[in-house]
Amino acid sequence: MQFFLDTANLEDIKKYASWGIVDGVTTNPSLIAKEGVSLEKRIKEIAKVVRGPISSEVVSNDLEEMLKQGRTYARWANNVYVKVPMTPAGLQAVKIFNKEGIKTNVTVTFSAGQALLAAKAGATLVSPFIGRLDDISEDGMALIADIVKIYRNYDYKTKILVASIRHPRHVIEAAKLGADIGTMPPAVLEQLVHHPLTDAGIKKFLEDWEKVKGLQ
Ligand code: G3P
Repeated sequence: MQFFLDTANLEDIKKYASWGIVDGVTTNPSLIAKEGVSLEKRIKEIAKVVRGPISSEVVSNDLEEMLKQGRTYARWANNVYVKVPMTPAGLQAVKIFNKEGIKTNVTVTFSAGQALLAAKAGATLVSPFIGRLDDISEDGMALIADIVKIYRNYDYKTKILVASIRHPRHVIEAAKLGADIGTMPPAVLEQLVHHPLTDAGIKKFLEDWEKVKGLQ
């Protein structure tokens, strides 16, 4: 399973990339706005830190404008993936980007039917937002199970990028289902590494070692 960071915070990206387990980064307009930086500047900075896919989202509902923005993003670095919304124009854009060799990530996806359309259009990645489904009392993980099954039935090459992850259980459940990628806020990556028994175990080993470390 690949781990992506869902943030535009450069310090966090540098910190967690140094752990050696970050395979890519996803951004969206809200995450960029939170940082108060220019999209171009930040995407170029991130692309220097992480060599895997970096998603940069188009901000228009118009096909021609999506194409213009996406072609520009793709020139910023060779690992930029163009994030395209799940709309008819978005699907058209994916098809065209595909022919041009531009990688895509179909975003704001909430149903199996939408994921099927993204695969048919030739999306490189599809991003189902599981946390936002859970927020409205739907079952985000059931959607991932459906998409995994559908993509396997037809051997679609589109990778399932589980997005809107809120906690470590989301990551574990997605991994059990065989999702390709999980994109998570830095806090979730931090939660994944910790366990109270790990902390207690390390503390005890260090204390016991103090008792014998000077012995010849
Ligand atoms: O980047 C898309 C997605 O991960 C957003 O997550 O937490 O805003 O629902 P969230």
